[in-house]
Amino acid sequence: MIISLNYTNMMADAVGAEYGIHETDLLALRARAKTIHEEICNRRQHGEYAFFDLPFNQSMVEEVLQLSDEMSGRFKNIVVLGIGGSALGTTAVFRALRPLTHNLLTDEDRHGLPRLFVLDNVDPDGFAAHLAICDPAQTCFLVISKSGATVETTCQFLVAKQWLQQAVGEEYREHFVLITDPEKGSLRPLAVQQGYRACDIPPGVGGRFSVLTPVSLLPLALAGVDIQALLRGAADFAPHLCHGSLESNPAYLNAALQYLAYQKGLRTSVLMPYSDRLRDMADWFRQLWAESLGKKYSCDGRVVHVGPTPVNALGTTDQHSQVQLYMEGPFDKVVTFITVDHFDQDLDVLPGAPSPEMAYLEGHSMAELIRMEQLATAVALTKNHRPNCMISLPNVSPETVGALIYLFEVQTLFAGALFGVNPLDQPGVEEGKQFTYALMGRSGFEEKGQEYARIQSRLAPRVLNCQ
Ligand code: PA5
Repeated sequence: MIISLNYTNMMADAVGAEYGIHETDLLALRARAKTIHEEICNRRQHGEYAFFDLPFNQSMVEEVLQLSDEMSGRFKNIVVLGIGGSALGTTAVFRALRPLTHNLLTDEDRHGLPRLFVLDNVDPDGFAAHLAICDPAQTCFLVISKSGATVETTCQFLVAKQWLQQAVGEEYREHFVLITDPEKGSLRPLAVQQGYRACDIPPGVGGRFSVLTPVSLLPLALAGVDIQALLRGAADFAPHLCHGSLESNPAYLNAALQYLAYQKGLRTSVLMPYSDRLRDMADWFRQLWAESLGKKYSCDGRVVHVGPTPVNALGTTDQHSQVQLYMEGPFDKVVTFITVDHFDQDLDVLPGAPSPEMAYLEGHSMAELIRMEQLATAVALTKNHRPNCMISLPNVSPETVGALIYLFEVQTLFAGALFGVNPLDQPGVEEGKQFTYALMGRSGFEEKGQEYARIQSRLAPRVLNCQ
């Protein structure tokens, strides 16, 4: 398996001195990379960064497979209730590793595997539309929350419970699996006291780093993904990611390139897979990069307000939507392509085009076109002094997807150290959560409710109503 990072077009000799990175910039980071690496190793030895060990956690995967076997054949619909890190990884890997039409296939064509829906919002239209196409008797909800306290997931759970209770009566508990922290939060006591089936999220693994835990492994296994191969891909790639040499560790190198680009004012980071199957990997990565690096305070307590803005795009689709901006808009972006060397299928264009103007495509294939379009976009960006790089996968398989996930996780951790922030916390989302609790009348949040009212009363309303 060769996964490569081609950063030719990130460099000053390709895109020019103003926005391109100089060899000397990279050289200057070498020593810092070694120090950061030592710190990472040291912290791992002291039990931090538990996500690093997930690909090697055999007992965890065995437990998931056992549960998935027990449930196999029992349900036609698996519905994930979760949000953020409890949902995005599952969506991304499901899309990458099951047929894109999985949920549209007949039971027979799915070989008895259930459909998998990931509901990560509390939009009642979206939620109700999914309930409407599921037979409650054949539906199992995986309620996924590390904290066991997330308001959206709690609300989803309560609505799903009512829906099931009305349809199947007191057997409704059989239709739930709670995936949560082994000790904390309000889901765990339900499992212990009320007999819900439950599965642990390993302690020390935060939401957005939890894709290689039961958070995603259970729904993916139920939907037919080879989770052992997914973890094997990550484990096999680990030696490339667990050493301190900046030039040959792709996670460290890519983090360094992104960091240096940020210092040059390129503060938007676009991730653009040229693969429908990898489309949602960019969405998963967007959360990982945004929540991990967007911070007000540095680790030493200074106000820094840093963080690159991640943007997800899809090639070739967004060539007709976003690329105009990337090519000619402000010099504030760096584009990372993800490419696939071999697609599982290819479609040839045979001779016989109905118009001479279309004939240039004869003898070519769709895979060839998508590849050429990526190369063409990269060279056009380069010509326009826009730094861009490319991560190439040999194919889309459980192994390569596992490796890519691990690469991005380590890259994010290392980038956190370069930016001087804690990539594992997300203090900025707390305030909004507390105002929500206050607005929903949760006891203990009365003061927050008063603060909300005070802020509102200070604002002069400016609302344009059009009838
Ligand atoms: O990365 C994170 O920690 C967050 O995005 C969480 O995944 C998200 O807020 C959901 O949290 P929980 O799994 O506790 O419900």
